[in-house]
Amino acid sequence: FHVEWDLEAAEKGGYEDFMIKEIHEQPRAVRDTLTGKIDRATLKVMLRGVKLDPEFIRSLDKIHVVACGTAYHAGLVGKYLIEKLVKIPVEAELASEFRYRDPLVRPGSLTVIVSQSGETADTLAGLREAKRLGSRILAITNVVGSSVAREADDLILTLAGPEIAVASTKAYTTQLLSFYLFAIYLAQERGTIGETERIALVEELLKLPDKLEKVLNTETKIKEFAEDFKNSEDIFFIGRGLDYAVSLEGALKLKEISYIHAEAYAAGELKHGTLALIVEGVPVFALVTQAELYEKMISNIKEVKAREATVVALAAAGDHKTAQSVDYVLHIPATHTMLTPILAVVPLQLFAYYAAKARGCDVDKPRNLAKSVTVE
Ligand code: G6P
Repeated sequence: FHVEWDLEAAEKGGYEDFMIKEIHEQPRAVRDTLTGKIDRATLKVMLRGVKLDPEFIRSLDKIHVVACGTAYHAGLVGKYLIEKLVKIPVEAELASEFRYRDPLVRPGSLTVIVSQSGETADTLAGLREAKRLGSRILAITNVVGSSVAREADDLILTLAGPEIAVASTKAYTTQLLSFYLFAIYLAQERGTIGETERIALVEELLKLPDKLEKVLNTETKIKEFAEDFKNSEDIFFIGRGLDYAVSLEGALKLKEISYIHAEAYAAGELKHGTLALIVEGVPVFALVTQAELYEKMISNIKEVKAREATVVALAAAGDHKTAQSVDYVLHIPATHTMLTPILAVVPLQLFAYYAAKARGCDVDKPRNLAKSVTVE
């Protein structure tokens, strides 16, 4: 009796590729990363790997975030969150820029290094530069024994589990979650968030794994969309605020694995360049999850519709109005307006995945790209 044993197929656990498996692991990854970090009685955030003393937290007046690729996109969301909740200025920077520009990092500042692998050469060099300049280092990483984890003072470990596909998915969502936890933690320690607001936010945070499952249930619809757009030469992603940060990640996913040219633009910037490229039939993905920027986004959508773009909107559940201005709408479950990025990125990951599959691409190993860039 002989059984054919294919190790890779076994590791894919019944999925066709690692990427789709990892997309589906996100509810679990987010649940695991949350475990043990919320005090059940008080709903306060507790971060065991973060040992900032109260005096350091009180006097903190500048945070740098340094990362590459998808981790940098998570850092951009982190900047919005920390500035909003903690009112400390945050600069999010690409590690390859940061390390060579004599950054103005002061002793007593904090540098957050974000890296799935913990081994990216530029990111590690950024960490060392910030440390040399006297900054305290907090790492958000997925690999416990990595160089970034070892050289940092404080650690938030993302419990995404091994990420094999080159294009990052579950590492990104758990990096976002880490920033939520850290921003709420700083806000609660500095007293910049009221108890009611904190509890509301944390309660919503705890519901994210179930809501991620709901987003994954819309997979078939997204697959159909992606197949419709598989022959597009360019796809634009627009958004404002947190939606803009997520748009950058959506465009990156699409170009990495499908080789369709994709560009993300802050919707308010359209008039300053990209609008020149919007002509009949050009697909535009518009993210409209931010309630306070809703009307502004609708005007931007009208601008691209007036040039006959084909618009797909990503809106919050219960938003029945957006449908009147666009060609297609996808909904994500309703959540706190600050938490939409974790849910909104998933349809964009699925869209990239199915567009790439429809084009016959090797989604796990895109051409010219590596999972971990350990040389410059
Ligand atoms: C490579 C990977 C990306 C990743 C980036 C940063 O480009 O293909 O998926 O976002 O490196 O990697 P890191 O391990 O530092 O998060």
